Amino acid sequence: MTDDLIGATRLVPCSVVILSTGSDGNQDAMTATAMFVAEDSPLLIISLSKENTCYELLERTGECALNVASADQVGLVKKVGSTHGRDVDKFKTFEIDVEKGTRIGSPLIKGAFANLECKVITSLPVTTYMLYLVEVVAFKKDDTRTPLAWHKDRYFSLDKEAR
Ligand SMILES: Cc1cc2nc3c(=O)[nH]c(=O)nc-3n(C[C@H](O)[C@H](O)[C@H](O)COP(=O)(O)O)c2cc1C
Repeated sequence: MTDDLIGATRLVPCSVVILSTGSDGNQDAMTATAMFVAEDSPLLIISLSKENTCYELLERTGECALNVASADQVGLVKKVGSTHGRDVDKFKTFEIDVEKGTRIGSPLIKGAFANLECKVITSLPVTTYMLYLVEVVAFKKDDTRTPLAWHKDRYFSLDKEAR
C-alpha cells in the first residue's frame, strides 16, 4: 500500500463499543467499532482482528454484547482497547461492573449508553480480520448518558447537535 493511503480509514468517525463475550470464568471485553447495516432487521457489522482474544471467544459463543460506550467510560475504553484477555482478566483488573443479559449469556457492562445483545448471523474473513454480521436480539439504553465517538485517534462526547 502506498504511504499516502495509510490512515485513510481513520478519517471516518467511528462508533465506540465495548464488546463483551463469554461467560463466568472465560469471558473477555475489548473496544471495537460497530457499523449500522439495517434498522427493521436490527443488523450491525463488527470487525475483529484474529489476534484478539475476543475473536477466539466469539468464534465459540456466536454471541456478544455491544455496550455502546458512554462518555464516562472513556478510561475503560482505553484500558480494554490496549490489553489482551489472554494476559489479564479485564473484568477483575479493571473492576468492570456487569449484569446478566436477557437473551444471551455474555455479560452486559454497566455504565454504558446502551447494551445491545447480539447474535452472529454470518462472518467473512478479510485479511487478518473477521467481519461479523450480527443481529440485535434485545437491548436497553440509558438516556441520561452520552455516547462516545472516535475520530483520528481522539474521543468525542456526542452531546452537541450540529445544525
Ligand atoms: C477506539 C478503538 C477501537 C477499536 N476497534 C477495534 C475493532 O473494531 N476491531 C478490533 O479487532 N480491534 C479494535 N480495537 C483494538 C482492540 O480493542 C484491542 O486489540 C484489544 O486489546 C483486544 O483485546 P482482546 O485481545 O482481549 O480481545 C480498537 C481499539 C480502540 C482503542
